[in-house]
Amino acid sequence: MTEIMKIEGGHLLEGEVTVSGAKNATVALIPAAVLANGPVTIVGIPQIADVKALADILKILNVEVTEVANDHLIIDPSHMENTDLDDDIVTKLRASYYFMGALLGKYGYVRMKMPGGCYLGPRPIDLHLKGFEALGAKVTYDKACYTIEAKKLKGAKIFLDIASVGATINIMMAAVYAEGRTTIENAAKEPEIIDIATLLNKMGARIRGAGTNVIKIDGVKSLSGCFHEIIPDRIEAGTFIIIAAAMAKRMVINNIIPQHLEALLSKLKEMGVNMEVGIDRVIIERSENLKSVDITTKPYPGFATDLQQPLTALLTQAEGEGRINETIYIERFKHCLELEKMGADIELIPAGAIIKGPTKLYGTSVSATDLRCGAAMIVAGLIAEGVTSIKNVYHIDRGYSEIDKKLSMLGAKIWRENI
Ligand code: EPU
Repeated sequence: MTEIMKIEGGHLLEGEVTVSGAKNATVALIPAAVLANGPVTIVGIPQIADVKALADILKILNVEVTEVANDHLIIDPSHMENTDLDDDIVTKLRASYYFMGALLGKYGYVRMKMPGGCYLGPRPIDLHLKGFEALGAKVTYDKACYTIEAKKLKGAKIFLDIASVGATINIMMAAVYAEGRTTIENAAKEPEIIDIATLLNKMGARIRGAGTNVIKIDGVKSLSGCFHEIIPDRIEAGTFIIIAAAMAKRMVINNIIPQHLEALLSKLKEMGVNMEVGIDRVIIERSENLKSVDITTKPYPGFATDLQQPLTALLTQAEGEGRINETIYIERFKHCLELEKMGADIELIPAGAIIKGPTKLYGTSVSATDLRCGAAMIVAGLIAEGVTSIKNVYHIDRGYSEIDKKLSMLGAKIWRENI
């Protein structure tokens, strides 16, 4: 039996929705917690499958995980053991690679399988590994496992050829206990990086400059437990904002940090979306006459690649030609083929797509080929005439916290079936 998500489109949405804690922060905060020597309490945990997979990895490492209420996790690594992570669970998600930095940082040794995650074209981890090597580690690969070990980690100056989110966070984690100062140049500046540095600093680390392109980490001898609340998920927020622009009679989206969404909000303004942006919420009403825009995905604070896919679905409803240039994952266009099945007029070009609109969308059977493709299918399904059936729902469940429940509360006709 497989689960499918069904949406009967064409119903206007109304009401309030509250954004959950950031997935891409959570998936790094959980591995980061093992660097402490006492319990770490994290609040604002989203209800997503990636969290369950990370909790299973923690159990393999004999880390105690206690769920208090449904968004509150206590991670206690007091009795932790550095077991090899050669279980298939590691390949379920991309973020399992954060255990490389965390375990190397804590024990000077880690052995684990290659991480998995959404297929968005090649996703190398060479920059992570080069960073570990710069700190004095030796990296070997055999039997589908990486072994990364160091007698002693020593601070170093590391220049990232690409401002990689994963490499920046992984190197930060590996460097917290290293002797002396580590400097990461051309570091990624995503808000999630600041969130991880904040957690580590609360634990006693000395990290300065997170959120800029130069991060300095002075090694410490010990880290203790702490309490931390996760920042709101800017991609979930952006997805609801896009949904509202397409289908809201009036929607209030709570728990957002508008500064994290500036690139999206300014594009939507250009498209003619009616918005009222408050301190921590945005109110949106759908507009009849949307105009197309061009977007180029860029590292933060540029337009997020993760919002490119849901925005494509909205562009099918806008007047004119909208061009997407994807500079982060040049193959991240599988959603376009699915949208075409629903009636979209899209021309794929190298590392890009041209969307011509407006076109009427019709419900049909489509696939969530990856997480944000799933988000695009939800946006399109809510707009379309008739019923859209989305296969491979597990991709959506990896990253969106109770999205069908949240949409139902707003008046959407959305349900699941087992086939
Ligand atoms: N890259 C390399 N070598 C590396 C690392 C990255 O060439 O060692 C390249 C990648 O191939 C890509 C670019 O650098 O072209 C940026 O990749 P980055 O490392 O920043 O991405 P990531 O850390 O693997 C995170 C998010 C992604 C999000 C990207 C870009 C997590 C768990 N994942 O991935 O989120 O798209 O940053 O912002 O934080 C998603 O949420 O759907 C998702 C895929």
